[in-house]
Amino acid sequence: MDLKSLIRDIPDFPKPGILFRDITTLLRDPEGLRYTIDFLAQKCIELEIQADCVVGMESRGFIFGAPLAYKLGSGFIPVRKRGKLPAAVHSIDYELEYGTDSLEVHQDALSPGSRVLIVDDLIATGGTASATAKLLQKIGCELVGFGFIIELRDLQGRKYLPDVPIISLVEY
Ligand code: PRP
Ligand code: ADE
Repeated sequence: MDLKSLIRDIPDFPKPGILFRDITTLLRDPEGLRYTIDFLAQKCIELEIQADCVVGMESRGFIFGAPLAYKLGSGFIPVRKRGKLPAAVHSIDYELEYGTDSLEVHQDALSPGSRVLIVDDLIATGGTASATAKLLQKIGCELVGFGFIIELRDLQGRKYLPDVPIISLVEY
């Protein structure tokens, strides 16, 4: 299936000069959605990624991470932006284009040694994925892979990630 044909390009969103890769058109397509999750799961199996859990980042990482976890027979753990999780959290600050923000995960969600697959819809600069990786490594988790639907190759985000398998289904 041609996944690219289901992803819509929106120029100048959220600000001038950004070409936004909009996955809502893929999500609303029943075959496209099923194919995407099945394809991601298939790649994980081919690469022999054995994860105890899938971690997905707010908010678009939740959309793909939770059904992938279901398919792989593992649990799903949300990494959220500052102040959203109700119980005690581990936090990490990370750089945005303007200023910094924090990502958080519940302290009791993961244990040292947990094997974790990190999933998001898209990798651009790699800032979000690399901050998540550092947060999980601080806890003592073992990263076993990354899964993205879209990779913006020019931005070279993958060079900021640890040396584990990195899956991306569509490249620009
Ligand atoms: C988008 C996207 C990734 C991140 C990728 O999330 O879903 O999480 O940006 O960019 P990076 O590789 O440069 O860090 P965003 O922060 O826009 O949040 P959203 O998913 O809630 O829209
Ligand atoms: N997140 C960061 N860059 C993006 C882009 N170009 N399209 C969609 N989401 C993004």
